[in-house]
Amino acid sequence: MNYLKKILITGGAGFIGSHVVRKMVSDYPSYLIVNLDKLTYAGNLNNLKDVENKENYIFSHLDINNDEGLNQLFNHYQFDGVIHLAAESHVDRSISNPSEFVKTNIVGTLNLLNNCRNHWKNLKGKCFYHISTDEVYGSLGDKGFFTESTAYDPRSPYSASKAGSDHLVRAYGHTYKLPIKISNCSNNYGSYQFPEKLIPLMINNIKNRNPLPVYGKGENIRDWLWVVDHALAIDLVFHHGEFGETYNIGGHNEWKNIDLVNFLCDLMDKKLHRKIGESRSLINYVKDRAGHDLRYAIDASKIQRELGWTPSVSFEKGLESTVDWYLNNENWLNNVTSGSYQRYYSEHYD
Ligand code: NAD
Ligand code: DAU
Repeated sequence: MNYLKKILITGGAGFIGSHVVRKMVSDYPSYLIVNLDKLTYAGNLNNLKDVENKENYIFSHLDINNDEGLNQLFNHYQFDGVIHLAAESHVDRSISNPSEFVKTNIVGTLNLLNNCRNHWKNLKGKCFYHISTDEVYGSLGDKGFFTESTAYDPRSPYSASKAGSDHLVRAYGHTYKLPIKISNCSNNYGSYQFPEKLIPLMINNIKNRNPLPVYGKGENIRDWLWVVDHALAIDLVFHHGEFGETYNIGGHNEWKNIDLVNFLCDLMDKKLHRKIGESRSLINYVKDRAGHDLRYAIDASKIQRELGWTPSVSFEKGLESTVDWYLNNENWLNNVTSGSYQRYYSEHYD
C-alpha cells in the first residue's frame, strides 16, 4: 500500500505514547504508524489491543540505544516523521538510578537525531517532534507560570536528562537545519498510566484499602491534564506547529497533592459505596522526595492562540472517567502490579 506519510512513534507502548498511537492510527488511515518500543517495565502491548490488528499499524520491539537496529528500521521504512516519546519517565526512579535516564533520554535521543540526519537527505516534508516536560523549567514559588521563554533549571536527574535531550534537539535544528518541534507538557493523568505515578497509585491503593503515601506535607502543586487532551495537542503541533518552535501544554488546573488525594478518596468512596471519609483515613504522610519541586504551572496561551488548542474536559470529569476506567479494567491493573512492581513498591515505600 502507498501511504501518504510514514511516521515513527517511539515509546508508543507507554502511557502517553499509547494514546498518541491510538489517535494517529485511527484518525489517519492514510498514514503508516510504526510504534518502536523497548517494552521496559512501563511499556505494555496490552495498552494497544484495540489497534494491534489495524492495517496501518506496525510494532517494532527495539531499544533507541540500538543504533544498528534504528539504522535498519529507517532504511526499511523511509520515515517522513518521528514523534519521540520513548523515555524513562518517573522522577523517583531517576533519583535511585540516574544512569538509565541518561542512557535512554539523552543518548537514545541523540541516536534518533543522528538517524534522522543520516537518512533525511532531502528535508522537505520531514519532521522530528520531541515530546518533553515542564519539569525542565525547574520549580515555581506561589506565583507565576512557565512560558516558552522561561530559563531552563532542571533539578532532578529525570528533568536534567529531559533538558539535555531538549537542548540536543534544538542544537540539531540550529546546526544541521533538522526540521524539529518540541512541546513541554504538565502532569498527565488518564487510562493506561502505570501505577507508580500519583493518580493511578492512589486509585489502586484506595481500591485495595492500602496506605496512601503522601510525600512531605502534601503541599506540592502540580498542573494536571487529561492524557487525551495531550494527545490532541501533539496531533496539532505535529501537523500545524512551526518548525524550530516550542509549545507549552498544560491544564490550567493546579492542585495541591493533599487536596487531590482527598478529592480522589471521596470520589472513590462514592463509587465503591463506602462511607465518605473511609479512604481519607488511609492517608499516610511519608518521607519527602529528595529535591521535591514545589510547584509547576504552565502558561499554555501560545498553543491556544496559534493552534486553537484548549483542554476539552474539566478535571472533575476527566478524573471520574479515569477512576471508572481503572475500576473496570481490573485485569490490566492486576497484570501491571504483579511481579517486579511489588518489589519496586516495597523497596521504595517501606
Ligand atoms: P511511560 O514511562 O509510560 O512510557 C515510556 C515508554 O518508553 C515505555 O513504553 C517504555 O517501554 C519506552 N522506552 C523506555 N526506554 C526505552 C528505550 N531505551 N527504547 C525504546 N523504548 C523505550 O512514559 P509517559 O508518561 O507515557 O511519557 C512519555 C513521554 O512524555 C516521555 O518522554 C515523558 O518525558 C514525556 N512527558 C510525560 C508526562 C507525564 O505526565 N507522564 C508529562 C510531560 C511529558
Ligand atoms: O510535570 C510533568 C511530569 O509529571 C512528567 O514529566 C513526568 O514524567 C511525570 O512522572 C510527572 O512527574 P511528577 O513527579 O510530578 O509526577 P508523580 O506522579 O510522580 O508525582 C506527582 C506529585 O505527587 C509529586 O509532587 C510527588 C507526589 N507523590 C508522588 C507519588 C508517586 C506523592 O506524594 N506520593 C507518591 O507516592
